[in-house]
Parts: sequence; C-alpha cells; structure tokens
Amino acid sequence: MTTAVIGTGGIGSVIARELASGGETLRLASADTKSARMLAAEIGRAAVVAVDNDDALRGADAVVLALRFAVLKGVIDEIADALTGKLVVVPSNPVGIDAQGNVPRLLPEGQSSGGVVAGWLPAGARLAMAFGTMSADLSESSSHRSPEPAVLFYVTDDDRAGQEVERLIRTAGFEPVKAGGIKQSGRLEVGGDLHDLVVGPAEARSLIGAG
Ligand SMILES: NC(=O)c1ccc[n+]([C@@H]2O[C@H](COP(=O)([O-])OP(=O)(O)OC[C@H]3O[C@@H](n4cnc5c(N)ncnc54)[C@H](OP(=O)(O)O)[C@@H]3O)[C@@H](O)[C@H]2O)c1
Repeated sequence: MTTAVIGTGGIGSVIARELASGGETLRLASADTKSARMLAAEIGRAAVVAVDNDDALRGADAVVLALRFAVLKGVIDEIADALTGKLVVVPSNPVGIDAQGNVPRLLPEGQSSGGVVAGWLPAGARLAMAFGTMSADLSESSSHRSPEPAVLFYVTDDDRAGQEVERLIRTAGFEPVKAGGIKQSGRLEVGGDLHDLVVGPAEARSLIGAG
C-alpha cells in the first residue's frame, strides 16, 4: 500500500525508512523538496518525491504529517480537500524550540495536540495520533526489536483509523497498542506518561490501565 509522508526531517525520515523496510510504498514531500529527494535516493525504488504536498496525497492510502506543530495547520489547510477519506497520522508534539534550545509548550495547560489537530481537519479525514511518542533515535533503534517487539502507542476516535494505523505501526516494525481516544493524546506527548517509553506489549497494556 502507499503512504504519503509530508515532512522528511528528524522524525519523518525515520518513519519513512521504517515503513519502507516493511514493504510500504512512499510518496515524500518536504518544504523545498531537497530533504525529500535525498531520502528518496537513500530508500530507493519504494519512494518517490512528490511535486508538492497535494501531489503527495495522489494515490496514497494514508498520510503522515511529520511536521513541526507551528506549520501543521497551514499544511492541513493547503491539502484539506485531499485529506477527506484518508487516514491522517500525526506524530507532532505541541512544542516549539527557541534560540537557547529550550522546547516551550505551544498549547495552554490541559489542552493536548490531538483535540486541536482534530479541529483543524476536514470532515471525513480519519485522525490517529501516532509515531511521535519516541525520539527519532529511539524509534530507529527500537524498530523490528526481537524477540519481543517494542510497542508504539496510538490514540484515535475512529475504529477504521485504528485498524489502518495498526497496519502502519506493524509495517514499521512495532506492536501497536491503543492508549484510548483522541482525548488521551496528552499521554503520548512530550511530558506525557507514555512518552519516550520502550516497552513490550504486556507492560504497555498494564501502563494503559494505570493512566
Ligand atoms: N525529531 C524527533 O526526534 C521527533 C520525535 C517525535 C516527534 N517529533 C515531532 O515531530 C514533528 C516534526 O519534528 P522533526 O524533528 O521531524 O522536525 P524537522 O526535523 O524540523 O522536520 C520538519 C520537516 O517538515 C518539513 N516542512 C516544513 N514546512 C513544510 C511545508 N510547508 N510543507 C511540507 N513540508 C514542510 C521540513 O522540510 P525541509 O526538510 O525541506 O526543511 C522538514 O522535512 C514535531 O512536531 C516534533 O515534536 C519529533
């Protein structure tokens, strides 16, 4: 199947490599296409570079928006028509980065990214928050772990999105575990109790219940 990855920086490039390693075909887009072109050259035949963000969605079954939170709404508005009927996977954490390297939270206390992103999407887009719980390095080193696979947590309000994102998570070399609906997305974010954890399925399920 085919997934569009819009944003081929720190986390988008790792997600794309992981998906390609599991046999997914990719359509890549970035701000000026340079990083997308470099990544496509590295991945090989499984990846093509889209002309622009809209083109990335052409023929894709799903899209991963691997974008910084501050640019996410602008890109969603740009490609809104193409998002209808698609699985939309968002790994973004609601943080910025300042000149000193600090990572200030961009949303008020109590507001999590999932609810905000859901409000930006057009009707008919199926949202799952996933692939943003581990740092890029940790994700890369935990993919295809054996003998016990590492878990990637996700949240969604949509059963079909859940099935679709579980397929992508398995393709990327992880075991999917649902942490709840979109209201629970704060648990997955930077500062959340399920963020930056590398655990197996049994521990993951006990953590879900404990939250
Ligand atoms: N990096 C991590 O370890 C990590 C882990 C988990 C979650 N996250 C979250 O994932 C999100 C992305 O983080 P990142 O570290 O991957 O950021 P990043 O390295 O800055 O990459 C951002 C990507 O977005 C692309 N981009 C920017 N504006 C665009 C536009 N208008 N249209 C299309 N593409 C655009 C950039 O294109 P260019 O390449 O052309 O500049 C770049 O490829 C953040 O919200 C972060 O919190 C990151």
